[in-house]
Formats: sequence, C-alpha cells, structure tokens
Amino acid sequence: MAILEILVYPDQRLRTVAKPVEAVDDSIRLLVKDMTETMYDANGIGLAATQVDVHKQVIVMDLSDERNQPRVLINPTINEQDGEQEHDEGCLSVPEYYAPVKRAESIIITALDEQGEIYQLEAEGLLAVCIQHEMDHLAGKVFVDYLSRLKQDRIKKKLVKRARTND
Ligand code: NI
Repeated sequence: MAILEILVYPDQRLRTVAKPVEAVDDSIRLLVKDMTETMYDANGIGLAATQVDVHKQVIVMDLSDERNQPRVLINPTINEQDGEQEHDEGCLSVPEYYAPVKRAESIIITALDEQGEIYQLEAEGLLAVCIQHEMDHLAGKVFVDYLSRLKQDRIKKKLVKRARTND
C-alpha cells in the first residue's frame, strides 16, 4: 500500500472528468487500498480518484467514528434525489477551508463494489452530502465552485500562497 499525493485546489488536474472503470480487477483493488490508506492518513471522510490524479470513477469513504467501515463506490450513478439540505463542507483538496453548500437531502445510487458487484444504496444526511461531494470530483468539480466568485478568488490566493511557502 502507499500514501498517494492529494492534488490541491486550484490545480487544473482536479478539472479532469473521470472515465468509468471497465473492469474491476486487481489494479483497481490496489487503487482502492491506496486511496483508503491515503484518506485515513489525511483524516478525511471521503476521497475521489480524481484527487490523487487518477481519472477513473472510483470513490472511497468512511463516515464511522472508529474509521473501520470503509465504503467503495465504483462507477456510481444517482438514480433518484429528493429534498434539500445545507451542510458545512470541507475537502482534502481545499485544506483548512469550510463553507456551507446546498445538496439533495436524500439520494438513491447504484455503484459497483471492489468485487465488481453492483449494489444500490439509499443515503440521506451527511452520507448523501459526502456521496454528492465525491461524485462532483469525478465530474471535475470542487465544492468551492458553488461559492461566490469573491470567495473563490480568496481561497485560490490563499492556497497558491500556501503552496509556495511549502515548496
Ligand atoms: Ni473533496
């Protein structure tokens, strides 16, 4: 297993649209393992392959307090959505920044697990937020895109500056 490098906003590679996984094979299972380890290492609750510069439709998540219930979503699609909720969101690609975003309150999705088995999931609340946030990554979107232009510019400036001082 390996800890992967997480791309930081406004890195343009975060804009790449991920392709569906054609076969859930050992290379995908290794990617899932590495992404899960990377997510735990960074203390995140979700990570999309886009964020580690792999442009395939793969997401890992773990919303449990014990950090022992990893969830894998490969080629996820939203079949139904309902209602609205607003939640403060953060992102491993936008360090130390949180802002409220409006999302559907409940969703029904289908996805493949790491064995390539299709499953359906009904999610609401934080789990629904997390899935929608990560699916946005696969579409080349970041939660910052929902904020005002002014806020987007501020975050960009701050993170570009932060990247320079870290080099
Ligand atoms: Ni994110």
